Amino acid sequence: MSEINNYIAANKDRFLEELFELLRIPSISADSAYKADVSRTAEEVKKRLIEAGADHVEICPTGGHPMVYGEKIIDASLPTVLVYGHYDVQPPDPLELWDNPPFEPVIKKTELHPEGAIFARGSCDDKGQMYMHVKAFETMLQTNTLACNVKFMIEGEEEVGSENLESFLRANVDKLNADVILISDTGIIANDTPSIMTGLRGLSYVEVEVTGPNRDLHSGLYGGAVANPINVLSDMISSLMDENKHITIPGFYDKVIELSNEERTAMAEAPITDETYIKSLNLGAVQGEKGYSSLERTSIRPTLDVNGIWGGYIGEGAKTVLPSKAHAKISMRLVPDQDPDEITELFKKHFESIAPASVKVKVSPHHGGKPYVTPVDFAGYQAAHQAMAEAFGKNPIPVRGGGSIPIVALFEEILGLKSVLMGFGLDSDAIHSPNEHYGVFNYLKGIETIPLFYKYFAELHQK
Ligand code: BES
Ligand code: MN
Ligand code: MN
Repeated sequence: MSEINNYIAANKDRFLEELFELLRIPSISADSAYKADVSRTAEEVKKRLIEAGADHVEICPTGGHPMVYGEKIIDASLPTVLVYGHYDVQPPDPLELWDNPPFEPVIKKTELHPEGAIFARGSCDDKGQMYMHVKAFETMLQTNTLACNVKFMIEGEEEVGSENLESFLRANVDKLNADVILISDTGIIANDTPSIMTGLRGLSYVEVEVTGPNRDLHSGLYGGAVANPINVLSDMISSLMDENKHITIPGFYDKVIELSNEERTAMAEAPITDETYIKSLNLGAVQGEKGYSSLERTSIRPTLDVNGIWGGYIGEGAKTVLPSKAHAKISMRLVPDQDPDEITELFKKHFESIAPASVKVKVSPHHGGKPYVTPVDFAGYQAAHQAMAEAFGKNPIPVRGGGSIPIVALFEEILGLKSVLMGFGLDSDAIHSPNEHYGVFNYLKGIETIPLFYKYFAELHQK
């Protein structure tokens, strides 16, 4: 065992206990009632970075939740790794579906995590994965193995679209000067099948409101003669996809880059099949865009999903009402080279154009983000490949991911830096859902893999 592995083994319990303390703070960025908890988490992250050995650690105010910055510059001739992560979490609702309270972490064994998993909101997304970097940094300093300069940039607004991060990047281009960005906020295929994410989808997110009559009506007196906005909204939403699950918005696919047959064949090598989805989610069957596999449908193809829909009476019992308004939140996941602003505009134009004369519609855009693809032929990706191969004893498989981290495309645009998405979560870890968890194996394996990344990046970057 290497010195690094010895250090991790000797400090494992403390590494877990420290993460538990972070997980106990409900840093829910979306809910203003938790603003103080979000700030307290930033303070805590700052303290941990200082304790681990970082210099110039500061809390940088933004227009929203603060950013934590810290660095360790050991030698100007060495390359610099900029670590990005987020300390904010998604709201834990619905609370009644959690087996343990979301902010009281516990370790429990699961089928996929026989060594135990940490159950808490943010355990995987992203406090647990972010904190691996702080502990890997401590480990490298304590074992005298730090091979690169490091900068940390840990934000508190990722789960609400990182809206203030763009201006922070623009104002701090020099301070954030580095050679690569390293992020653990994604996943691997399985604990015995390492993989590296080579892409993220972009996002366009809109809220729609359909208004019919000027007030709620008795559905007996008026039903049949007056358009029901919920019925109309349902019709409009169903028309957004045809029978092949192809999105019908004119121009939607214009900028989509199709993969070559070689690329698609290479993708099909990944051990993820339709059966994987059917079994793990207890589905009757998969569904999706005709001509593509489930893996392709969730990574290289754009999609449209209703995330929430409401209106009318949903209380106990039956109330006969023809509501005045209906609402829905709709997300579109985008792939290169689709542009979120353009897609939002196309959606708005189309949605307005298909509204029948009996209703009025309003489309309000929310946050969005551009898609991103990591090239596999640069030192950053190759360092991650070698680090994972060594830590797992198996070559990692490159896979395009379906989720979004909107800031990643801006890192390239504003800082001119490529991002390496070396995450350690599993799809089954239930991020954003009740009973989110993160394997103890994954947490410790991450802390072990990160120092190897620094080592190989320092070597490969010189070449
Ligand atoms: N860490 C996730 C994104 C992710 C997870 C990407 C797993 C790939 C694999 C991130 O915190 C997230 O949830 N992003 C949001 C977008 C954001 C604007 C709310 C998403 O993808 O829905
Ligand atoms: Mn995340
Ligand atoms: Mn998330």
